[in-house]
Amino acid sequence: MRRALPFACKIAATGSYLPARIVPNRDLEAFLDTSDAWIRERTGIGARHVAADDEVTSDLAAQAARRALERAGIDVGGVDMIIVATVTPDGPMPACAVRVQHKLGATTIPAFDVSAACAGFLFGVTIADQFICSGAMQRVLVVGVELLSRIIDWSDRTTAVLFGDGAGAVVLERAPADSEQRIELCRIHSEGALADALSIPAGGSAEPVTERALHMRRNKVQMVGQEVFRAAVRGIADVGAEVVADAGLTMADIDRFVPHQANVRILSAVAERWGVPLDRFVLVLEETGNTSSASIPIALDRGLRDGRIASGERVLMCALGAGVSYGAVLARV
Ligand code: ACO
Repeated sequence: MRRALPFACKIAATGSYLPARIVPNRDLEAFLDTSDAWIRERTGIGARHVAADDEVTSDLAAQAARRALERAGIDVGGVDMIIVATVTPDGPMPACAVRVQHKLGATTIPAFDVSAACAGFLFGVTIADQFICSGAMQRVLVVGVELLSRIIDWSDRTTAVLFGDGAGAVVLERAPADSEQRIELCRIHSEGALADALSIPAGGSAEPVTERALHMRRNKVQMVGQEVFRAAVRGIADVGAEVVADAGLTMADIDRFVPHQANVRILSAVAERWGVPLDRFVLVLEETGNTSSASIPIALDRGLRDGRIASGERVLMCALGAGVSYGAVLARV
């Protein structure tokens, strides 16, 4: 069970933003050797949102954040820190979070990025939870945001069909230590031995961008799909089970599962391992594709808005992404 801390941390409000342009699978058939039927059958994805040319990652993040702040009934002056989980920042430097901070109208609160790919939002929540439960901070804004359409190779059918753009945000807030509504447990892990299964090889110190790298598209996402698939099933299933067991619960105690949305076949395999029906999962990927670190906060926000998640329910959020990094957060919402 959780160690005793002076305060609890609760999800005060959520918000999400998807760019207006929707690209259905059929539109990909025009320039890729693929089909709507293949993509749906192998992934469960039907469409994805793609940002406009004049939108950047921090714009998407700020939109989701504004919605979360509005629903929390506060302005940005009530926030003590901003954490942005992303692998697609506006640029390599500075952090995307400082762009978001400025767009929201905050001035000196700490703002930094977390890079844990599809698990990034849960890493961000885990960090924020520590600051809030210790009493160091009252409110932290955590955003998961990706503009993946700019880092995928649109000529590679093995990756181009999978991803979408979007943002989701939560306002995390201090609550009394005995609050029912709270984050109950967080767990995060990384396994660097699998780092090359999903990566962008060029653009860092190991392989600067050269003309040859650009020609080889090594500045775009490269993936060993089946290795990632296997790691995702194992990582998500194991970390979810770990958190539930450590909380002294069983899967029957979980009302709703809000997993990272990569592939419905990954999630079916996870559901089978947990012995729970897939209809207890809040799914949005048919409409959004894989939005990496944004997928859980988008699904959480959607679920709370449309009634698939009710106030007071116990929710398990789990993800695995590049790294590989994976984690789980158990919360009463
Ligand atoms: N359209 C049509 N055919 C395709 C496509 C496509 N878009 N992509 C691959 N194929 C072909 C392959 O070339 C292959 O053809 P071949 O048999 O002639 O060689 C055939 O389909 C089967 O390919 P596989 O790779 O075996 O297909 P698989 O069933 O493994 O599905 C997929 C591929 C969807 C990528 C799967 O491996 C997967 O989902 N992996 C997880 C990857 C993932 O989700 N990554 C996201 C980031 S990490 C995360 O979020 C967890």
